[in-house]
Order: sequence, then C-alpha cells, then structure tokens
Amino acid sequence: MALPMLQLALDNKTLADALASTRVLAAEVDVLEAGTILCCSEGMQAVRCLKSLYPDRIVLADIKAADAGTILANMVYDNGADWMTVICCAPIATVETALAAARKCNQAADPAKTLTPLDVQVELTGTWSWEEAEAWRAAGISQVVYHRGRDAQAAGQSWGQEDLDKIRRLAGMGFALSITGGLVVEDLPLFAGIPIKVFIAGRSIRDAADPAAAARAFKAKIAELWS
Ligand code: 5RP
Ligand code: MG
Repeated sequence: MALPMLQLALDNKTLADALASTRVLAAEVDVLEAGTILCCSEGMQAVRCLKSLYPDRIVLADIKAADAGTILANMVYDNGADWMTVICCAPIATVETALAAARKCNQAADPAKTLTPLDVQVELTGTWSWEEAEAWRAAGISQVVYHRGRDAQAAGQSWGQEDLDKIRRLAGMGFALSITGGLVVEDLPLFAGIPIKVFIAGRSIRDAADPAAAARAFKAKIAELWS
C-alpha cells in the first residue's frame, strides 16, 4: 500500500501568517493547501505565492467551488494550483466543467515540467449520496476529500465506524481519498489498512508548540502504519 502523503492546510486569515507557517513547514509536508479561509481572505495571490515559493510542492486550492466550474478552475490553475476542490453539493455540470478545464491544461502542459497532473477533488463536507458518488466517478473524478467539517467537529462530532465504512466504500469505488477535519496524530491508527492518498492537517500542526516536530510526528506515524 502506498505511503499516504501529508498536506498542510493553511486556513490562516492572512498570507503573512500562512507564510510564517510554510517557512518552517514546507519542507516537512508533501502538499500545501491554500485553505478556504485563506483563499477567501487573500484570493488568488495566496495560491500564486505558494506555488512560486514552493514549486516542488503540490499546491491545492481549497476553494470548495459550487458553481462556475470553468472560470474558477482556470483561475486557480492559472495561478499555480495543482489541485482544487469542488463541493459535493455542486451540480454535476460544475464537477464536469472544472475537470474539463484541468484536462485541457494537462494536454497543453510540458510533461517534463509537470509535478502532478492538474486535478479536481470533490470535497465531502455536508450531505451527499452514493448516487452522486457514482455520478462523480462516471464523470471521471478520481479524488475525494472525506471531511469532518470544522463546525461539525466543534459541535462534538467525532470520527466513528460510519465514517470508516464510508471511507472503505469510497476506496472500493476507486476513489483516492484525502482525510481531514481536525485530525490529530492520534487519529491515524483509525485509518490503518485503508489506502489513503493524503492526510490533511491544519491546526494540529500549525498551532503546535513545535510545528515541525508535529509534522514529523504525523510522517513517522504514517510510515509506521502504512509501510
Ligand atoms: C475546513 C478545511 C480545513 O482545511 C480542514 O478542516 C483542515 O484543517 P484542520 O486540520 O485545522 O481542521 O477545509 O473547511
Ligand atoms: Mg481545507
């Protein structure tokens, strides 16, 4: 089973704060996420800045797009994002148009300079159905983000058997999974044995007393559980 990657979610309110984190953490992680909060606050300059400072990291724009798939996808890709998110309640047309924009950019790209193919992830925050999941697969989506929402977590929702069953079923459908939502290193054993592509952590790494040590602890636990 491939080793899951580690993604740092930068849900900072300012780019300056996000860059204070990346200065110590960019080398410790595989994927840098321009978080929803950062994108709302600083716009595409956050994505542009992350890619220009860290060209060898995958950059994800967590814009949770709900409409205007072509325009928003071209916007994030033109500014250097490798991956973007579309929210699960978006119409299938938005999923399809965002993915079509990614594929068009991939066709025009120089493979020698490409870190990873541009891609669209469907972000599973809130409600969605298995029929919709089938439709995403049929549309060509290969990545989903399984997300315990920040507000749901604050209201007391913890990881449970229902989550693990859904995650296994999504993996069985052929989706590569990112897992997120208030993740702490102690949560990782819950997912052992499941082919996870990416673990995403924000606050538990950024706000740690020693953020680099926190990122290394995630990496070490991932290696221990998935090697
Ligand atoms: C919130 C998000 C966050 O990026 C995600 O929850 C990861 O951050 P944290 O580990 O701080 O919860 O997308 O909508
Ligand atoms: Mg996020």
